[in-house]
Amino acid sequence: MSGLKLDNISMRFDLPNGSSVQALQDVSLDIGAGELLSVLGPSGCGKTTLLNIIAGFLAPTSGKVLLGDHQVTGPAQERGMVFQQGALFEWMNVRDNVSFGPRMNGVPKAETKATVDHLLEVVGLRDFKDKAIYELSGGMQQRVALARCLANDPEVILMDEPLGALDALTREKMQGLVLKLWKETGKTIILITHSVEEALLLGERLIVMAPRPGRIHKEYRLPFAEMGVGADLRVVKKHEDYGPTREEILTMIWDMEEEIMGRTEAAQ
Ligand SMILES: Nc1ncnc2c1ncn2[C@@H]1O[C@H](COP(=O)(O)OP(=O)(O)O)[C@@H](O)[C@H]1O
Ligand SMILES: [Mg+2]
Repeated sequence: MSGLKLDNISMRFDLPNGSSVQALQDVSLDIGAGELLSVLGPSGCGKTTLLNIIAGFLAPTSGKVLLGDHQVTGPAQERGMVFQQGALFEWMNVRDNVSFGPRMNGVPKAETKATVDHLLEVVGLRDFKDKAIYELSGGMQQRVALARCLANDPEVILMDEPLGALDALTREKMQGLVLKLWKETGKTIILITHSVEEALLLGERLIVMAPRPGRIHKEYRLPFAEMGVGADLRVVKKHEDYGPTREEILTMIWDMEEEIMGRTEAAQ
């Protein structure tokens, strides 16, 4: 397992009308192997752009991403992505979705079957192997997405608001599952969210980003993810540091959004 290094990443999008957007500016970050990092920030601060650059879907305007000693130049199995929703193969059943990566890689059938059985057990879908995707609830679909990502055995799992479309109760269960997977697999996870609570609960380390240009604004080291493994997350939220940290970050993001609104109004 290798660490991930973001080395001075900037990203500018040139728009057809001749203007440009500085989506990221000079973002540098070292993420240790097995670290669980949450990334929080107001809409438009470059979270998705950053994740897409780490995934290799986008090449930064300047700077580079290193995984261990090699530079990221495109998508690869070592970096798996879990999207918010809608990224499953609708025409395949659960089993075929999860086995897709290993099958494409020519992994022997028996080995693939064992992997799929194991992963579906881990995400709590043992009895749903033969179901079609449309037969599953949103929460179950995200479990399939997690299992499909894990089937490729990536070193780094990138998640872009993976729980954002779920109802509150399902979301809480899935947060517990993410913590369990993190502990059991030892994988590096980068989770983007715009929920302050989720970022607090699921980040051993939490980065708050600021917009225009997108950059790292503040960083926290937090005990809550470790405490939340196998525990009731509602109990974790009662920890004396949880409420004050939540308030501090909420105010920070609120102020950023106010500032963005102010600038937008001034421009009109
Ligand atoms: N392909 C693109 N072309 C032009 N502008 C883009 C593109 N992708 C993102 N942007 C702009 O870059 C900024 C950051 O976007 P994004 O990374 O999606 O933010 P977030 O995920 O934090 O909401 C926004 O201003 C957005 O409009
Ligand atoms: Mg986004």
